[in-house]
Amino acid sequence: WTATRDKSCKLPMPKGSMGFPIIGETCHWFFQGAGFHASRRQKYGNVFKTHLLGRPLIRVTGAENVRKVLMGEHSLVTVDWPQSTSTLLGPNSLANSIGDIHRKRRKIFAKVFSHEALESYLPKIQQVIQETLRVWSSNPDPINVYRESQRLSFNMAVRVLLGFRIPEEEMHCLFSTFQEFVENVFSLPIDLPFSGYRKGIRARDSLQKSIEKAIREKPLHTQGKDYTDALDVLLESAKENNTELTMQELKESTIELIFAAFATTASASTSLVMQLLRHPAVLEKLREELRSCGLLHDGCLCQGELRLDSIISLKYLDCVIKEVLRLFAPVSGGYRIATQTFELDGVQVPKGWSVMYSIRDTHDTSAVFKDVEAFDPDRFSPERSEDREGRFHYLPFGGGVRSCLGKQLATLFLKLLAVELAGGSRFELSTRTFPRMISVPVVHPTDGLRVKFFGLD
Ligand code: HEM
Repeated sequence: WTATRDKSCKLPMPKGSMGFPIIGETCHWFFQGAGFHASRRQKYGNVFKTHLLGRPLIRVTGAENVRKVLMGEHSLVTVDWPQSTSTLLGPNSLANSIGDIHRKRRKIFAKVFSHEALESYLPKIQQVIQETLRVWSSNPDPINVYRESQRLSFNMAVRVLLGFRIPEEEMHCLFSTFQEFVENVFSLPIDLPFSGYRKGIRARDSLQKSIEKAIREKPLHTQGKDYTDALDVLLESAKENNTELTMQELKESTIELIFAAFATTASASTSLVMQLLRHPAVLEKLREELRSCGLLHDGCLCQGELRLDSIISLKYLDCVIKEVLRLFAPVSGGYRIATQTFELDGVQVPKGWSVMYSIRDTHDTSAVFKDVEAFDPDRFSPERSEDREGRFHYLPFGGGVRSCLGKQLATLFLKLLAVELAGGSRFELSTRTFPRMISVPVVHPTDGLRVKFFGLD
């Protein structure tokens, strides 16, 4: 990687520090978490240089700068994950595809998240959430919400999205291997025994083996529109687009979908539980909304069939989820590489440099949000809609041609969880104070968030 300035460009380089040789500032980043970027942004400005995960990097904050990066896909930048992420996700993943191949793959995937497909996943997602809350409530001890939310989002991805029926014992093994994979997706690309990178490769190979077995044993229903899971939809969609997916493509797509859903959804679920605990008035207002549309009656959730449209019509619920994702955006940003030298905030981004656009810092520093640190769901109400000022001030799901494909699914999952928490559960914080949040690899509480859940009497 050339970390030099473009001499033909008159603009100065961004300010910043490149840290130590080879490792750069990677260790500072791991240990400082969110504070790493915030401290450097305060010192060097919205566009600063650093050196992370084995490469020089320009970190970009602020709606206007982020807009230029995201809308510059193909002309100014293209996707460029750290080497570890790229190798572990594989050449057939969406994350690693560019240009027409990316467009074609996204088209195939789009059907997996269509309104019709989501409607068909809804009852199963609801069932997985209800079963999980029942297990949490029957446990006499407090639950580590972050750890158990990881299990919940993993179950959701494996059972609901992929339709795998895996015995409990194997599911535990698969979950541990998956955690090992995720922990090492962002690691220094040094392939030595016991290195994170090597552990990640081993975990990936083992996952691919188990997934191949599950795909071969899975009954496929690709006839008609009566979908059972996302894998069926994916295969049907590929057929409609005159594409046959190879086993290797299927395995990589499967791991990519679980990866994309796993840590992000677990992080957001934990933040949701924490904010409902911190803000009883918000929880009560949610209950009021459920009562007013007949979903909550005499303190109990009505067990009738919940439709996607009824969930979408709950406006306050929508504000709550949006606010959780604003204040605790699970993904801190996305990686790109400059395909030509360009200007950003008065400095040059030289061709060949990695660029990381920042989501959380952009939310935290955006002037459109009043009292930016306050948890205030009503800021997204139709009367206030503070996010209307421009779409790059609020971007928990990224933006442009690489925005999150699972956005609607993730939102539906979080809304269903909030409905079950508000309507069907009682829960209390088990520690004296709320934990501190850390942000690597995704936002989560230092102690996982200890909460005692009770069933409804
Ligand atoms: C991409 C956030 C859940 C599938 C992204 C990106 C963000 C994001 C910020 C763009 C990264 C970039 O610009 O490089 C989130 C958040 C989630 C969530 C905050 C939960 C709260 C999900 C779920 C799925 C999913 C549940 C699918 C099961 C994807 C895929 C991409 C993506 C496939 C890559 C799109 C592409 O490269 O074209 N997500 N995500 N995400 N997400 Fe999500």
